[in-house]
Amino acid sequence: MQVVLAGSPAEVGRLAAARIAQLIRSKPDAVLGLATGSSPLASYAELAAQVREHGLDCTGLSAFALDEYVGLPANHPQSYRSVLEKEVVRPLAIRPERVHVPDGAAADVAAACAAYERALADDGPVDLQILGIGGNGHIGFNEPTSSFASRTRIKTLTPKTRADNARFFASADEVPTHCLTQGLATICAARELVLVAQGEAKAAAVAAMVEGPVSSMCPGSALQLHPRATVIVDPAAAARLTLTDYYRYTYDQLPAWQRFDPAGPGSGR
Ligand code: F6R
Repeated sequence: MQVVLAGSPAEVGRLAAARIAQLIRSKPDAVLGLATGSSPLASYAELAAQVREHGLDCTGLSAFALDEYVGLPANHPQSYRSVLEKEVVRPLAIRPERVHVPDGAAADVAAACAAYERALADDGPVDLQILGIGGNGHIGFNEPTSSFASRTRIKTLTPKTRADNARFFASADEVPTHCLTQGLATICAARELVLVAQGEAKAAAVAAMVEGPVSSMCPGSALQLHPRATVIVDPAAAARLTLTDYYRYTYDQLPAWQRFDPAGPGSGR
């Protein structure tokens, strides 16, 4: 796992966007894995700026969402389909027919999950999966004790996750109790994982994910088993890591082509 210590939340977004843009330029028909929530928003905004100002062409991409709430109609403003359309699909001009989201409104949830896995098998694998992490260590909506072998399925959101996500809804009661989420094995089938985390509320989960034991109590620790996983954190999210000098050193030693940003974080650029 490569840990990248960014100097600020904005730099987290810029570095993740730089890696995604690098991929899109080298592989215009890449398959992107998209997370929702607030963590990747700065990266999406930076990519949108590159589309507008530097002609980054995203029209050949396809995309797979990590998860979706159960029971919200697809056009509900907080459905992950709606959020991704607003934050990613329209600003990046990705073709809507190439964007896959689990069908959280399906009458037959098991069939919807199986269909999602089939679509991933047909159009995947995901080249680069962008991830956030919950304060309890979840990735996607794989809450603590999720199986490392899990595939797309229905999960019950923990009270903490519902409380954390209440900020997006008019009231806490409106947050759905269930979601469809890619499983940990589904996520880890992506060729590359890039997880972004900002703020002190993520510090304990980041430390457990990076330096703790591989454990279903911290689903993010599944990244330790992936051959190409990068975690980009701001100083607050990095606050409980113990090997920060080493992470800085290893990043500084990388050849320029392996860095997301040849100038490197903390270079002042
Ligand atoms: C969202 C997702 C979740 C979030 C996590 C962090 O698609 O899969 O794992 O990444 O809950 O949420 P934020 O970024 O809002 O703190």
